[in-house]
Amino acid sequence: MVGEEIGMDCRHIKFCTDKEKIDLNQLLALYQKNAFWAKNRCLEDVTVAIAHSNPVISVWDNKRLIGSARATSDGIYRATIWDVVIDAEYQGLGLGRKLVETLISHPLLNRVERIYLTTTHQQKFYQRIGFVENETTTMVLYNSYPNPEDLLKQSQNLEEISLNR
Ligand SMILES: CC(C)(COP(=O)(O)OP(=O)(O)OC[C@H]1O[C@@H](n2cnc3c(N)ncnc32)[C@H](O)[C@@H]1OP(=O)(O)O)[C@@H](O)C(=O)NCCC(=O)NCCS
Repeated sequence: MVGEEIGMDCRHIKFCTDKEKIDLNQLLALYQKNAFWAKNRCLEDVTVAIAHSNPVISVWDNKRLIGSARATSDGIYRATIWDVVIDAEYQGLGLGRKLVETLISHPLLNRVERIYLTTTHQQKFYQRIGFVENETTTMVLYNSYPNPEDLLKQSQNLEEISLNR
């Protein structure tokens, strides 16, 4: 049941901008339960994604992680928002809007000229916050997942190239 239906009071819900406070096991469980695109993620890879994202916002009901969103940003020209999730039990209470607003008002995003995101089903949610549909920037590279041996070869090649210079 969503929070809206049971008239949940969410004044005690806290939004946190310190990514060090995130419990990655809870984040993984949040994705597995609520994010269809992130159901098969593993702890190791989510740890890498969080380490390389800034800012990362988390939403807490006391010690329970109930929402999260993250961005990658150059701080001035371009940023992209990723993995916006509110736990199904807390949806429809305005927390998703506040989560995205907290993210885009962060100093690493609030001066950025263009903030991108991709969404399969939630266009209307983002439109309420001010995002518009953009059909001109639709290219993607489906990169094959490199295995550790390939990565090692790539880095050895790069070392050889720089030694030969
Ligand atoms: C999308 C999601 C983050 C929205 O969070 P939420 O807390 O339920 O949304 P809010 O209650 O803050 O809604 C904010 C506004 O968007 C509207 N809205 C939310 N979801 C909507 C939808 N699917 N269609 C139309 N409007 C929607 C609300 O009515 C509200 O409008 P208002 O401000 O005019 O009252 C949440 O549903 C979710 O986590 N879904 C699963 C994961 C997902 O799909 N994430 C987005 C991936 S791109």
